[in-house]
Amino acid sequence: MATQSTCHGQLVVLCVTFFIFSSIRWFIEVESHSLPENHAAFFIFGDSFLDAGNNNYINTTTLDQANFWPYGQTHFRFPTGRFSDGRLVSDFIAEFAKLPLISPFLQPGFHQYHYGVNFASAGAGALSETFHGSVIELKAQIRYFKEEVETWLKRKLGKAEGGLVLSKAVYLFGIGTNDYMSLFLTNSPFLKSHSISQYVDLVIGNLTTSIKQVYDSGGRKFGFMNLPPMGCSPGLRGERGECLEELAEYANVHNQRLVKVLGDLEKQLKGFKYSLYDFSSSLRQRVENPLKYGLKEGKDACCGTGRFRGVFSCGGRRGVKEFEVCRNPNEHVFWDSYHLTENLHKQLADEMWSGSSNSHSSLRHLFQTVCG
Ligand SMILES: *[C@@H]1O[C@H](CO)[C@@H](O)[C@H](O)[C@H]1NC(C)=O
Ligand SMILES: *[C@@H]1O[C@H](CO)[C@@H](O)[C@H](O)[C@H]1NC(C)=O
Repeated sequence: MATQSTCHGQLVVLCVTFFIFSSIRWFIEVESHSLPENHAAFFIFGDSFLDAGNNNYINTTTLDQANFWPYGQTHFRFPTGRFSDGRLVSDFIAEFAKLPLISPFLQPGFHQYHYGVNFASAGAGALSETFHGSVIELKAQIRYFKEEVETWLKRKLGKAEGGLVLSKAVYLFGIGTNDYMSLFLTNSPFLKSHSISQYVDLVIGNLTTSIKQVYDSGGRKFGFMNLPPMGCSPGLRGERGECLEELAEYANVHNQRLVKVLGDLEKQLKGFKYSLYDFSSSLRQRVENPLKYGLKEGKDACCGTGRFRGVFSCGGRRGVKEFEVCRNPNEHVFWDSYHLTENLHKQLADEMWSGSSNSHSSLRHLFQTVCG
């Protein structure tokens, strides 16, 4: 699935040059970025909410890519592959933790994993069946982490030091939405053959397996967000503007089981610490009452076309050519038909970092905790 860049023939010179350039750039970045002595690395697993550009490098379709204008227009002034006008939650969290911007795992070039890396892939779910073939499913994200990153850290720093980086790191998971959205967006017989309860069990079961695999590699500090009310996104609202409540039903069951399973893991796994952010309430509140949060528009996307700009055409590269872009993305909850603006990502990151009244604990706390 990953496209590997190889050096052949005339390309050798170019590749070597690129390699040297990347190495120099890395040294400069590290030099100029004063890291806290005891920094905790940041590893990110998930879907389009957290994908910083991995899908730029896989064989997929523009449905799962955002590496074209006007994505990225505000902060980066360049389409990075992020499904937003600017930065994502994970970019802000890295900044708060005084880490450099965390790179996508598949970004070609020189990789240093001391500060972490981002495995998230737009469209991915916890189940292999979810948008199969066009995403990096959670299992593959975990495999990359274990086979490439864990191995690299232990080889580079030695077993003990590498192990310390892994145990001090924070692991953020944001996944599951696509497992449920795909029920409504595709016609998979596998998906249709389960009850809500059975289906949620599969998703939570697979997520749990992945968490345990990271724990087995030495991971101890985990951040989670529950599932947002995606049925209220511009792309899924009904004729009269009503939210798709069937999707909310799945999300509610999922969110209840997530609370339970994390509580169980905390009891079963020695040293397991976690923070659970209530993404569901915080998004619902902003969609219903945007003014209270300094926003003007909770229903219409900034970029897209049709009703609520719910036609997923932002950028004009997904079949439908027509799209409009609003003047000020900062006033909107939704950037495109399914994804949030940078302003929203920043608001969520602030809450996740400091811990709002409705979250289990804060990410700041996790980053600053020393695990024994
Ligand atoms: C990419 O995927 C398409 C459709 O699945 C396939 O036909 C094509 O051969 C793939 N290309 C590469 C380079 O793997
Ligand atoms: C994970 O999902 C697959 C379907 O993709 C299912 O067959 C399997 O039982 C699930 N695993 C767990 C532990 O629930």
